[in-house]
Amino acid sequence: MGYYNTKKGIKEYIKRSEDWDGTKLIKILKKYLPEKSTLLELGIGPGRDFDILKKTYIVTGSDSSQVFLDRYKKNNKNADLLQLDAVTIPIDRKFDCIYSNKVLHHLTKTELKKSFARQKEVLNQNGIVFHCFWKGDKVEKKRGLLFMYYEIDVLKKIIGNNFDVMEIKAFTEMEKDDSIYVVLKKN
Ligand SMILES: C[S@@+](CC[C@H](N)C(=O)[O-])C[C@H]1O[C@@H](n2cnc3c(N)ncnc32)[C@H](O)[C@@H]1O
Repeated sequence: MGYYNTKKGIKEYIKRSEDWDGTKLIKILKKYLPEKSTLLELGIGPGRDFDILKKTYIVTGSDSSQVFLDRYKKNNKNADLLQLDAVTIPIDRKFDCIYSNKVLHHLTKTELKKSFARQKEVLNQNGIVFHCFWKGDKVEKKRGLLFMYYEIDVLKKIIGNNFDVMEIKAFTEMEKDDSIYVVLKKN
C-alpha cells in the first residue's frame, strides 16, 4: 500500500498541499478548450482541480488510488469517476482534453512516453492535453513515491512528434519557476 493508497497518507497530503490552487492554470486551459468540451483528468487526488474544471467542462475524473476516488464520491455522488492508471489509460471512451496537475512526475521517463502515446489514442480529433510538472533535473524518492523533475527541453524530447506544442512555460507553485505547464494539440 503506497502513500496515496492509505487514509493516513491522503490526510497528510491534503494538509501539506492545502494552499495549492489550480485556478490560474485552468484559466490558461480555457484559452484553448471551449466550454462544454469533454475532459478526462488523470490523478484527481482530493479533487481540487476537478471541482474547478466541472464548472466549465463535462468532466470525468480518474486516479489510480481507489481511496482518493471513494473520498471524492462520498460528497459527489453523481461524479463520473474511474480507477485508471495514467500510463495505460485502459478505457474505450474518447475526450476533447486530458488534464493533470502534478501527477505525471510520479512516472518514469519510459512510462511518461508510453502515457503520451496512449493519451493521443484517447483524444478526439484536434484534442488537447494540459499537464503540469515540477521543473528541474532532480530525481527523488519521497514517501515511497518517485518524483521526476523536468527541464523544458527534456520534456519536449519525451513528447516527441505525438503532439504540436501550443505552450510550454515555467510557472511558480511554491518557489519561483519551480513548475512547468504544457499545452499540446494532437496532430
Ligand atoms: C499530487 S496529487 C494530484 C493533485 C490533484 N491534481 C489536486 O487537484 O489536488 C497526485 C495524484 O496522482 C495519483 N497518481 C499517482 N500515480 C498515478 C498513476 N500512475 N496513475 C493515476 N494516478 C496516479 C495519486 O493517487 C494522486 O491522487
